[in-house]
Amino acid sequence: MTLPSGVRLETGPGGLDRLSVETTACTAELFLQGAHLCRWQPAGHPHPVLWMSRASRFEAGAPIRGGVPVCFPWFGPRAGDAAAPPHGFARTRPWAIESVSSTPGGEVDMRLVLRADAATLAIVQQAFSAVFSLRLGHTLRMALEVTNDGAEAFRFEEALHTYFTVADVRQVSVDGLAGATYLDKTDGGRRKTQSEPVVRIAAETDRLYLDTTAGVSLIDPGLARRITVEKTGSASSVVWNPWIAKSRAMPDFGDDEWPEMICIETVNAVDNAVVLAPGACHELSATVTVTALEG
Ligand code: BG6
Repeated sequence: MTLPSGVRLETGPGGLDRLSVETTACTAELFLQGAHLCRWQPAGHPHPVLWMSRASRFEAGAPIRGGVPVCFPWFGPRAGDAAAPPHGFARTRPWAIESVSSTPGGEVDMRLVLRADAATLAIVQQAFSAVFSLRLGHTLRMALEVTNDGAEAFRFEEALHTYFTVADVRQVSVDGLAGATYLDKTDGGRRKTQSEPVVRIAAETDRLYLDTTAGVSLIDPGLARRITVEKTGSASSVVWNPWIAKSRAMPDFGDDEWPEMICIETVNAVDNAVVLAPGACHELSATVTVTALEG
């Protein structure tokens, strides 16, 4: 395949193949395993937007810690199957490159595909095709399109599990979720209401907000920036920070890294799982924009 100028296919850590992008609009890196975006930094922005753990594994078949894991066809633990890998198999399967092209404005468009095969059918007896498409430029657009290639209805969960870099998670606020109902995974999954106008992080936080289709903003005074996530085709959002004890318990997450990151995830899960008729397709998208905070 001929790649456009500024895009290379190379071998990354752990021998994993990745596409690396360096254009006038941005720099980026995407591993073919999981169609996993590990870096995206728009030109002129001094700090990484996506957060990557320094303890991440890069091994065939193991999840990468940070960036944007694509979670599918379930989110979190699989219902009724404790042995199944959390967040589905899409993030650890090899995806195929369908196309890579560039725009006159220096943006790079990528399409990667994952189809049901013997390995996925052994886990979920469902024919499907998933296309992950990205536009990498001054903004980042990601879309996951799933088609039901089977003869029965297909119910699935999905997430673009975006990790963002922050100066200090204790200083940030997350706007756009006021009044929403969430499942508090740090409290047995209890249903609660977001009564504060913004979300602030002062302890382990693991919340699945339901029936929320609006965009979410991350305000980070330490890095003097606002990161906005606009979305379509998504009715859930997750806000996650593991805090101290959970960071220590995760082997691929540095003990002291929790203040540097927050996940704001574009999701369809639990009540908002997608049910697709045979032959139908569904697209979830997230568009990430970074702007400077006024003085
Ligand atoms: C979040 C979940 O989306 O992902 C958390 O809400 C989970 O419960 C976190 O701990 C990380 O998951 P994993 O499987 O990548 O360690």
